Amino acid sequence: MLPDPERIEQAAALLRAGELVAFPTETVYGLGADAANPAAVAKIFAAKGRPAGHPLIVHLSGLAATQAWARALPAEARRLAEAFWPGPLTLVLPKAERVSPVITGGQDTVALRAPAHPIARALLAAFGGGIAAPSANRYGRISPTRAGDVREELGDAVALVLDGGACEVGLESTIVACPGGSVTLLRPGAVSRSQLVDVVGCVLDADAASPRAPGRVRSHYAPRTPLALLDRAALAAEVARARTAGSRIAVMARGDPVADLPASAWRRMPDSPSDYARVLYAELRELDRAGVTRILVESVPDSEAWAAIADRLARAAAAGDNRGVDARGAHGRGAEDVPEAP
Ligand code: TXA
Ligand code: MG
Repeated sequence: MLPDPERIEQAAALLRAGELVAFPTETVYGLGADAANPAAVAKIFAAKGRPAGHPLIVHLSGLAATQAWARALPAEARRLAEAFWPGPLTLVLPKAERVSPVITGGQDTVALRAPAHPIARALLAAFGGGIAAPSANRYGRISPTRAGDVREELGDAVALVLDGGACEVGLESTIVACPGGSVTLLRPGAVSRSQLVDVVGCVLDADAASPRAPGRVRSHYAPRTPLALLDRAALAAEVARARTAGSRIAVMARGDPVADLPASAWRRMPDSPSDYARVLYAELRELDRAGVTRILVESVPDSEAWAAIADRLARAAAAGDNRGVDARGAHGRGAEDVPEAP
């Protein structure tokens, strides 16, 4: 969907006036505010119900704009930006003096990303500054991948929603920390680990010493309906059990139905990981509305191409565990949230 110049100008004017604007990116929809206006940025936290202290991504037009937000651009970060911007990669860099602690959660780093979606790019060009934007969902919920999802999540809390149709990628960006001298993967996404390694040679995995990233709290990205993640054999057994018990379940799986289920309760998911990622959140939203008591999801292959999807599904399942739900057959996770790394 192409940007409508009048709507873009209206959106840029709202941002200048300190209002919130939701806009499409190639990953998911963002809830944007003028990154240079702390009062406007504070409205994001109120609209989302997001606890203060959870840092936001500043969206930029490209590499040149990082100068205003990062006090250093380590060589690895420059190479990654040159390779993947505009696109679904977020770089966590040493923050410039001017970046408000409201954005960084009081940390000494700032997350920066140049999105590729033509509407996001048009908005950034028209506005001329950085746009702070988390995913445009209520805190802890599934990220929106369609304009209607944003309205469903945020209602009137957002002044304007720019409609760019369904997001191409469908999952949130890959996030890497680039403090200088190393690159650490904080959140898997469409830019894969090996694509990063091809550019910078070595990529570390996040551990307890890594910069905190609330998206890594395990209960994120969750539907309201309890969700269990099962391999195909366990899925078939669980479906049979639920049928016998007469409980209303829905299934998301890649193959043909494993058991006799009404067609509406069986969502056949794509076999390709990029197609799967594109529709995942929309499918979860539909199933969340379907009035079932549990969503059973077939686990995905343990390979790099599926890493970001596996990550989001594991978090959605963990949220069910957190609610103390009967997730028998789901590979027993603890009932507690994995705490943020300090
Ligand atoms: O694809 C995306 O990244 C979408 C679109 C709108 O750009 N945005 C998004 O934002 O997913 P959000 O706020 O839902 O997730 C951003 C993640 C959070 O987990 C946050 O903790 C992390 O980025 N983050 C932001 N600033 C950080 C920092 N300085 N250090 C470590 N993590 C940071
Ligand atoms: Mg989010």
